[in-house]
Amino acid sequence: MAKLNIFVVLLLLLQMSVAHAQQPQPQTQPTIEQLLQEPFLDDYYSNVVHGYEIITNSQKHASRYVGNALNCTNCHLQAGTQKDALPLNVAGMYPKWRAKNGKRNGIGLRIRECFLYSMDGIMPPEDAPEVLAIAAYISYLSQGQVMGVEPEGRGVPTLQDTGYDPNPANGRLVYMEQCASCHGEQGDGTEDVPPVWGLDSYNSGAGMNRIQEAAGFIWANMPLGNGRSLTHQQALDVSAYLNLQLRPADPGQSKFLKLLEDFLN
Ligand code: HEC
Ligand code: HEC
Repeated sequence: MAKLNIFVVLLLLLQMSVAHAQQPQPQTQPTIEQLLQEPFLDDYYSNVVHGYEIITNSQKHASRYVGNALNCTNCHLQAGTQKDALPLNVAGMYPKWRAKNGKRNGIGLRIRECFLYSMDGIMPPEDAPEVLAIAAYISYLSQGQVMGVEPEGRGVPTLQDTGYDPNPANGRLVYMEQCASCHGEQGDGTEDVPPVWGLDSYNSGAGMNRIQEAAGFIWANMPLGNGRSLTHQQALDVSAYLNLQLRPADPGQSKFLKLLEDFLN
């Protein structure tokens, strides 16, 4: 009897492995590290690598469109590969209608808007090499995702209502205790840590300047290396505190302020 059972199990295993082999295998693609070592890349992969370089060092590779001290990867953590930290494997989610600008957005427009708001810069033209390279990198990250289906860990977690309003005064205490050691008491960051307010930070029109959005990001990812250690309320409070600080004006709201700022800078 025992012998027979083993036989049945073996047969099942064999069947499973045959079934497995018959399933279409996902195409594998080279890693960024591998691509960086290649002496020659085709047009697509050279764009992918360039897109990666822009995301990780926007200051150097997209300087003409960047108006602050940030790099895309400061918010899209691990070069856009980290769940709950605004991952960029989202090509299959576009085009999509967005209330923010009242039209159907392709991935290109979505990228260009982050230059205008999060990077407090200038919106690059649609066919700017920087935009095309980032779009190629986003396609590369999106490989294996299903079109129209939200990738797991997209955006940031939505924090449940705590029943209390965000309290910026309490947020200031959280900031001084848990954030100032890296981001500075004046929020202006250091060589290695990006600013969280001031004229070198994201502007008031940026997604990060929405209390809920920033709270989700902060709760899941900050203090860096110790994410999910704040309570939801602390994340909301510190987010409300950041929201009250001085930062560049929303270019969508005030063309004049924007001009004035450019003049003063
Ligand atoms: C200050 C933080 C910050 C920086 C810096 C930043 N982004 Fe974003 N980005 C966000 C936030 C927050 C969202 C989502 C909220 C929203 O839609 O406004 C977002 C959304 C996106 C999306 C859409 C993601 C999705 O899930 O559909 C893309 C694409 C994107 N950003 C690209 C970029 C690129 C390219 C750069 C650099 C040029 C950049 N971002 C810099 C904060 C940032
Ligand atoms: C150990 C140092 C450290 C601590 C502590 C820390 N951060 Fe950060 N934070 C960083 C670094 C570094 C980045 C950029 C991450 C990257 O580029 O990979 C960042 C990114 C951010 C960003 C998005 C980029 C920007 O500058 O706008 C926000 C917002 C932020 N932190 C808020 C906070 C808040 C709020 C706290 C306290 C609860 C906090 N951080 C604590 C190091 C830290």
